[in-house]
Amino acid sequence: MILLKKNILLNGSCLEIKSYKNPKLSYSIKRDIINLKKTYWKFSTSSQLNWFKKNIHPQDVHNCLFLNNKLIGYTLLRNRKMLINDNKKKYFLIDTVTISKEFRKNNFGNLLMEFNNNFIKKKNYIGFLLCKKEIAKFYINNNWKNIKKNKLHVDGKKSKLNGMYYNLPKKLQSELNKNSFYIQTN
Ligand SMILES: CC(C)(COP(=O)(O)OP(=O)(O)OC[C@H]1O[C@@H](n2cnc3c(N)ncnc32)[C@H](O)[C@@H]1OP(=O)(O)O)[C@@H](O)C(=O)NCCC(=O)NCCS
Repeated sequence: MILLKKNILLNGSCLEIKSYKNPKLSYSIKRDIINLKKTYWKFSTSSQLNWFKKNIHPQDVHNCLFLNNKLIGYTLLRNRKMLINDNKKKYFLIDTVTISKEFRKNNFGNLLMEFNNNFIKKKNYIGFLLCKKEIAKFYINNNWKNIKKNKLHVDGKKSKLNGMYYNLPKKLQSELNKNSFYIQTN
């Protein structure tokens, strides 16, 4: 993968992606995640901390992209279960895919998604996400597929957002395409 279309030198730089289960996330990284999220979603630190407490479970995973130890990218993988024909199936609800403003359009988003996808595959999970229509192309480029709009229910309601899936076995794809997708965010 060719990184960096802008004038940022990667030579001698240290680029790493680390995964943290929620209880292992240090306060300083949590603070950096909140600051990174603030550049796109306008919520105060205290409301974000409340959101963390209410919505993030111990089995949820934070994938963090660091450039020279500075957090420049982030994804939350929310570890959830759904019932298909009375069988429990585990899935990750992908949330908050973000790259720091100054580093966007340098392929870091693709790099982070490649890491997220491999993480989902290795765990043998299904991936789901909700996004605005405009950003769907970014995920399609990263091998995610659209869920038919009239089939999608989020927390018991029809959703205005675009639903997408990844690593859904073929057999389940046809089964779920006939029925509805019921995604629980919590
Ligand atoms: C979406 C986001 C993570 C992409 O990160 P990035 O590092 O700029 O993306 P990349 O440079 O890897 O670009 C990958 C591809 O996606 C496309 N893309 C990037 N941002 C896009 C956007 N906002 N809408 C549509 N396509 C986009 C690029 O054109 C590029 O396409 P190409 O490979 O054909 O050139 C970044 O723009 C971001 O953090 N946005 C704000 C938060 C957000 O909207 N997150 C999604 C929540 S669902």
